[in-house]
Amino acid sequence: MVMVFRCTICGEASLAEKKSTHCPFCGAHRQWLVEADDYIEPVVPELSEVSRKNLEFTYDLEIKASKIYQCIRKKTGDQFILAMFKAIAKVELEHAEVVGKLIGKEPDCEIAFIEKLCTQDRDESLHKTEKLEGDAIKHYKKFLGEATESRVRDIFQALIEVENDHLELVRKNL
Ligand SMILES: [Fe+2]
Ligand SMILES: [Fe+2]
Repeated sequence: MVMVFRCTICGEASLAEKKSTHCPFCGAHRQWLVEADDYIEPVVPELSEVSRKNLEFTYDLEIKASKIYQCIRKKTGDQFILAMFKAIAKVELEHAEVVGKLIGKEPDCEIAFIEKLCTQDRDESLHKTEKLEGDAIKHYKKFLGEATESRVRDIFQALIEVENDHLELVRKNL
């Protein structure tokens, strides 16, 4: 029998027989998933100057990553690369949505295909992704340390875990 789960990071609901290892939408790890009955809508916190600035930066970075991954996905002729980047482009867009809710921004639900953002070269794409994910993790660790709001801390903690998954995946396929 399927059950209904909610992600406490992105708020999306999913159906599964048991709790997934990762949120299918934002990639948050299983400890952030709860049964639908136990879900409490997170309150949008009053943000410090620093957190607002960090969240704005994060929003832009997630949108940028999402566009680059969308480009890679559209240009590649490799089925594995296509699937991987189709998945992570969506995850990064979901991250922008999560962060956007705190700063009053909302990404377009379709990710634009911008041809000049990538090439067809597999290695170049993976190296570019390795750098993007590595940089994101570094920034988010710093932002986590600077955040005083528990909701913001949770978000950065969850994002670090997800971007680490992406980094591991990229490195395994380099
Ligand atoms: Fe999620
Ligand atoms: Fe992300």
